[in-house]
Amino acid sequence: MTKRFFLGGLAMLGMASAVALAAETPASLMARYAQEAGIPVSALSAARGDALYRTDHPGRNAQPVSCASCHTKSPTQPGQTRVGKRIEPLAPAANRERFTDAAKVEKWFRRNCQDVLQRECSAQEKGDFIFWLSQVK
Ligand code: HEC
Repeated sequence: MTKRFFLGGLAMLGMASAVALAAETPASLMARYAQEAGIPVSALSAARGDALYRTDHPGRNAQPVSCASCHTKSPTQPGQTRVGKRIEPLAPAANRERFTDAAKVEKWFRRNCQDVLQRECSAQEKGDFIFWLSQVK
């Protein structure tokens, strides 16, 4: 009985550390995307990330749309959705929760790239984007 209790406790400890390990950082996500793209982290480009953020694309009703449309010109500032709902700043310097949850990051890249570019972003684009954003002060 004692032994089973002990092993159960160990299993719980193991799960707790697995959860702690699952927490990502902008740097770990960047590294993961670079690896997925088959390039070294040093080949990521902040300039390309910046351009991805700011470049206008034809949206619905021929209105130009970019990442900056919702996240604003300055990603350290709070943004707004099309219906006026507040979006917390995207830059990690202004919002420490950014790029710490891989599933959330993937979900929003998928949704927003589709929305703005009418396609998914590539792993390299995602890496560039996080690389650039994590340098924004
Ligand atoms: C129509 C408005 C809108 C546009 C345009 C938009 N986003 Fe977002 N974005 C959101 C909202 C809403 C969220 C989720 C709310 C939040 O996390 O504060 C979000 C969250 C994100 C996140 C999650 C980051 C994290 O760790 O929390 C990423 C990554 C992201 N956006 C990337 C982009 C990229 C790349 C583009 C341009 C290709 C873009 N977004 C364009 C509205 C937008």
